[in-house]
Amino acid sequence: MITERYTAADVEAAAAVLRRGGLLGIPTETVYGLGADGLNEDAVRRIFAAKGRPQDNPLILHIPEASWLERYCADIPAAAWVLAERFWPGPLTMILRRKPLVSDAVTAGLDTVGMRCPAHRLCRAIIAAADVPVAAPSGNTSGRPSPTNVADMLEDMDGKIDAIVDGGPCQVGVESTIIDLTAKPPRLLRPGGITLEELRDALGAVEVDQAVTRLMGKDEHPRAPGMKYRHYAPKAPVTVVRGDPAESAAYISSHAGEGSGVICFDEYAELFGVCIVETIGPAADKGEQARRVFDALRRFDSTGVKEIWSQCPDEEGIGLAVNNRLNKAAGFHIVDV
Ligand code: TXA
Ligand code: MG
Repeated sequence: MITERYTAADVEAAAAVLRRGGLLGIPTETVYGLGADGLNEDAVRRIFAAKGRPQDNPLILHIPEASWLERYCADIPAAAWVLAERFWPGPLTMILRRKPLVSDAVTAGLDTVGMRCPAHRLCRAIIAAADVPVAAPSGNTSGRPSPTNVADMLEDMDGKIDAIVDGGPCQVGVESTIIDLTAKPPRLLRPGGITLEELRDALGAVEVDQAVTRLMGKDEHPRAPGMKYRHYAPKAPVTVVRGDPAESAAYISSHAGEGSGVICFDEYAELFGVCIVETIGPAADKGEQARRVFDALRRFDSTGVKEIWSQCPDEEGIGLAVNNRLNKAAGFHIVDV
């Protein structure tokens, strides 16, 4: 394990794992990633195997600076440079046309590729030292909540990866925002740390893909293939209760009982005496809710809860991302109060 207080030798050791085709647990500001050399097809295939990931779900490439876009992408629109200038390094992934050297193993056969330049300095230092684009999905077993610290990632990946770099707990806590710049107008495929409001401020019109806010039918194909899978799901079924925090808390306390799990804002924790409670931060602090939501979901799996009820913030700002992750964990089983 390479720890947060890192030296140039540590960065080089991690980069060497990537260069020799290994699997590296790599910290980013959003969630921990399962990284490999994105130009090495065998290494990329090992990512799918370690996660148990469906083959039709493409990976994103991580780069240490925006100028690398030219290496892997074709027909780069002006909007990409506008977004890179404003939001990179940071929690934003752009879908762009790929160049032929980006393999089908990464893109699952699509003619586009997701590109991201992470804000985490150690992450960028490792990618720059390896001098390869790093293909990295979130470091969870497919279907489980994404890991936001080393312990969570090791829970899923110990024994399946060659090394993990400890870059501390993730500062954003939900995966990057994904915007498809090959669509007109640009389309939000997954909400995250860069908000819809910020994207509209930078670009003007941005559409929201349907998969963000509703359950996709069996025969529907969302533009981000990963959005169709049940995700982030604890073993027990989840119901999200939306609305004014005091009212959603009252609703949950009248329905939950012994054997129930509850995800709630800090202010309401005492209401749920006989339940197993995970708090996700104050009702007004959506940033904190984003940092804690995956850990809360994950923790129920080591309890025997039969059902889980969850409060949920409104959709403004990073609230849209917290909503999306909770709603997906619930299979869009939502009650509005
Ligand atoms: O924050 C993040 O983005 C994290 C960290 C590790 O960087 N990574 C991450 O990767 O969340 P992953 O694989 O768990 O999620 C990537 C999502 C999937 O839903 C996938 O379907 C979508 O991006 N995606 C990848 N390439 C795409 C493409 N060419 N077109 C549309 N969607 C794409
Ligand atoms: Mg993922």
